Amino acid sequence: MKKILTIALITATAFGQQLQAQTATHDAGQFTTITNGNLWIDSEGNDVQAHGAGFLKVGDTWYMIGEDRSSSWNPDVNMYSSKDLVNWKFERKIIENHVTHPDLGTKRMIERPKLMYCAKTKQYVVWCHWESSNYGASEAGVFYSNTVNGAYTYHWGGRPLGVKSRDCNIFIDDDGTAYFISTIEENQHLGLFRLSDDYLSAVEYTELFKWKSREAPAIVRVGDTYYMLSSACTGWDPNPCMLSYSKSLTEGWSELKQVGNPIAYDTQAASILTIKGTKQTTHLYVGDRWQDPRLPESKTIIFPISFTADSCVFDYTRQFDINYTTGEWHPTPTADRYISKKHWRVLDYSSAETTRGNYAATNAIDGDPTTLWHTQLPKEQPRGQRANRWDWQAPKVQHRIMVDMGRVHTLSGFLCTPRTDNSAFGLVRSYTFYVSENGKDWIPVSRGSWMPYWTEVDFAPCQARYFMLTSTERWGVSVAEIDVY
Ligand code: DGJ
Repeated sequence: MKKILTIALITATAFGQQLQAQTATHDAGQFTTITNGNLWIDSEGNDVQAHGAGFLKVGDTWYMIGEDRSSSWNPDVNMYSSKDLVNWKFERKIIENHVTHPDLGTKRMIERPKLMYCAKTKQYVVWCHWESSNYGASEAGVFYSNTVNGAYTYHWGGRPLGVKSRDCNIFIDDDGTAYFISTIEENQHLGLFRLSDDYLSAVEYTELFKWKSREAPAIVRVGDTYYMLSSACTGWDPNPCMLSYSKSLTEGWSELKQVGNPIAYDTQAASILTIKGTKQTTHLYVGDRWQDPRLPESKTIIFPISFTADSCVFDYTRQFDINYTTGEWHPTPTADRYISKKHWRVLDYSSAETTRGNYAATNAIDGDPTTLWHTQLPKEQPRGQRANRWDWQAPKVQHRIMVDMGRVHTLSGFLCTPRTDNSAFGLVRSYTFYVSENGKDWIPVSRGSWMPYWTEVDFAPCQARYFMLTSTERWGVSVAEIDVY
């Protein structure tokens, strides 16, 4: 189902949210800071457009390819290169509408392009979802080039081994055997296609996760175990990411188990990167935060994940430091960035649910992201009377939380952390952020119909002792933490 978007009245960007270029490599210790939530900007100052990204490391350089969603429903495939996953150089359009293939841009579109290198043929090969405008074609496409940054030549498009194929990824095993994995037969199962030695065609396939309707698959091998992440099929809407693992690619996959929070931190998996350091191996999850707020502004989100024998932990952080030599990482210390909450108090709030849980308003400013403020929960509909548990006719209500910081500060932005427990209930989407010097006269400094969670939302610097977050939602709002800087 497509996410229904209302046009942003005034987006955060229009309020002066600077789309920060991704930040620096620290001098000491060679840690690179990766910041999530903002659009990436390339070395030319343009948006990085590489959604559903695929990666290939050549020497010390990562090449990233992905959908260019900047202006059309028919993405070109862009390639960028980087030595730190932060500073990206635009290489070129490696696959281009109307150029690489006459059908591209009209009768065909590309999603989730993935890149690999075939040592046997010394060719670079791209597999992707090769689709018609109504997703009816359900085909895969294959392209190749003798140099990593192309241009790529169309080799083949069709249903691999006659199987309808949509969302896809690739996986190269330690012995160099390549696989194409895709959502098959009208999104019902996953198909694992073993590729020929030249990586250009599928030679056999195995049906996995029968009737489980999984998409956005991403496989990684850790030791002798294969781990697969996948999502449910909900269009561009986020849903829980599920893990399965097995000692064999073609059989024995464990039951699907949720990892991360219920919306995978508002992402859908695109790739898993392995950073083999001198001290540790770190795996990085790369996912798309789709439609944030529109498709072209979808964000690429990266965070560390770690695997145990039968599980996977999503270490989602908005910002983390990683050392590519040693493999070490840690959340970026933020102590000095955000204004201390020592003298803060909640001045006013619309409501708080304290009967069916401890969701006091003070939880939003207690410095603990595991506690949360939730407005009063709606009454559940009596069973049997309605198909839905929640009253869809209920009017939208304005909710608010007002905070006194104890003294006047110069503010230039806020950061809202959503609940990270096992529920997505009460997520704020439409919001206004106000500031005030006296607690009576309020100035709106940021407003949008799509609140960017975990993202620093900049506004023009101003003096304020008070701030207020308001949101108009049907069933209330929840917030784990509000920070200002
Ligand atoms: C979810 C898929 O993962 C995306 O690649 C894209 O195909 C959307 N569905 C389209 O709704």
